[in-house]
Amino acid sequence: MCGIFGYIGSEKATPILCRGLKNLEYRGYDSVGIATVSSQLGIRKEVGRIDDLVSRLNIEDVEGSLGIGHTRWATHGPVTAENSHPHTDCFDKVAIIHNGIIENYLELKTKLVERGHRFSSDTDSEVIAHLIEDNLSFSGTISGSESSWNGSSFEDACVAAFKELRGSFAVLAVREGEDKIVAVRKDSPLVVGLAENGTFFASDVAPFLEWTKEVVYLENHDIVMAEGSEVRFFDGGFAEVKRPVSTVEWDIEEAKKGNFDHFMLKEITEQAETIQRACVQDMAVVERIASMIRSGFGVFFVACGSSFHACLTGSYLFSKVAKLHVNVVLASEFENYEHFLTDRTLIFAVSQSGETADVLEAVRAAKRRGSRVVSITNVMGSSLSREADELLLMNSGPEICVLSTKTYTSQVVMMGLLACALDGNYESCVQKVKDLYMDVYNLTAKSMRDRLKDLARDLAEKDHIYMIGRGLQYTTALEAALKVKEVSYIHTEAFAGGELKHGPLALIEKGTPVFVFVSRDNEDRIVSNAQEVKARGGYLIGVSDWDNPVFDRWIKVPDCGDLNPIIQAIPMQVLAYELAVKKNLDPDKPRNLAKSVTVL
Ligand code: F6R
Repeated sequence: MCGIFGYIGSEKATPILCRGLKNLEYRGYDSVGIATVSSQLGIRKEVGRIDDLVSRLNIEDVEGSLGIGHTRWATHGPVTAENSHPHTDCFDKVAIIHNGIIENYLELKTKLVERGHRFSSDTDSEVIAHLIEDNLSFSGTISGSESSWNGSSFEDACVAAFKELRGSFAVLAVREGEDKIVAVRKDSPLVVGLAENGTFFASDVAPFLEWTKEVVYLENHDIVMAEGSEVRFFDGGFAEVKRPVSTVEWDIEEAKKGNFDHFMLKEITEQAETIQRACVQDMAVVERIASMIRSGFGVFFVACGSSFHACLTGSYLFSKVAKLHVNVVLASEFENYEHFLTDRTLIFAVSQSGETADVLEAVRAAKRRGSRVVSITNVMGSSLSREADELLLMNSGPEICVLSTKTYTSQVVMMGLLACALDGNYESCVQKVKDLYMDVYNLTAKSMRDRLKDLARDLAEKDHIYMIGRGLQYTTALEAALKVKEVSYIHTEAFAGGELKHGPLALIEKGTPVFVFVSRDNEDRIVSNAQEVKARGGYLIGVSDWDNPVFDRWIKVPDCGDLNPIIQAIPMQVLAYELAVKKNLDPDKPRNLAKSVTVL
């Protein structure tokens, strides 16, 4: 949700900023901009994507070996060039980029306007540039001619400005004539990459992997001063601190598209491998978590979007396999349950990015009440990975497509592993996942894709698609519906099979497509729900291991018992992809969405 990138070093900044922003585009793509520092600030910004900026604004000509860049997902103010970052002070001497929300921006803006500052955007972020300007003890009247700076140092001015901000923010600031970048992070992600050719800043590590794998994960409230080749870290109290350097284990190739047209297809195809990697866990940690679950007085799974669907699937698995009840709550609704939290409660926070603001807020509420927190995330060094008492990593490698595909199935694997660990059957679950390898491989092979491409052709013009299932197939239907709707923009909704007769049947007309997810253990009941749809003219597409006569179309998947949610989700991911391609949409970057949702 907004991506920020910065570089200071020995090379020309603009080509690096452009590549970094391109790598970061999955965090926001409605507008983009850069600022570099040479004799003057070189600022270019544009509505659209980084490729538009490069082609329309001769961006490669902008000089300077340090610069900052931003790719925006609008929160305050419409998508316009003025609202794009970087934002500057009154005289274009200071430029900032920001990810997060400045909660007190109206109050700050009013004060700054009274002092003569002129604003040129509707954003909350612009106040930061003016605050820095103000703190530089500006002499003379702002509304007059250009100023002369004569006050405190740029670093001091930045720090004083950061202190006035409330909300969440990762900010990079530069100033004309200064060979430095000043950065701060509070409740919004920011990491620092250390390379021979310079220092990198980014919202996460993937964008600078092609230059370095050496990374410093900042603590909350940290301030960073990068000057020339030197980088210094300060804590919130402005004491200089040492921060450990970690080596990222992700491979650079994993963050590239390779021979695939889109990251979405690449990541779907990786699943035969990634579900295996999800099983590579430290048994001691799994045992500790299992015992925390057993002794927890109230266990809450908390997540958003696809991660929430993985948690729902987990709750069915915990009930079925481990005979344990867990509560599953959308992170954005968790405040309604906070009063149940005690020091005996266990919060299970699941988030691919580890930066989803709603999830982090739930985690922080839990910690304030003394509850313990276990997290499942894909991103080492993310806020969630650092705030949890126990951590399990998905090991899926970077997921660049905005849609979760491989990380969803890894989350489901991990839910299954934990349920089995609680039941004393961890190893046999690992073996079952290993046995899925060829099935998953076949589901993503070309022959399957061609069949789903045919189906996509027939569905592409539909206005509505429905999906039904029971138990583990209901949660699979929810996830499948999310995938199809978010990437094809076709209204797609899932229902529990038994709920149809309580309302949704009214939606069925002649030819309405309805997917039916079937498992051997709930076949009779879901097929009778399917009959109810058929009787009203619905067009049934079965997802099952055998072709029931009630189906008009059939997607063949093997029956893998409790692991069916993995096997049945995959063809639906492929179908969603093919629908997007058929409709000439970008599957990697659906409209209005961003990969990492760092605002509440
Ligand atoms: C859907 C999707 C989103 C995310 C959700 C949570 O394809 O990707 O619904 O699942 O935004 O993100 P994380 O898991 O990073 O917390």
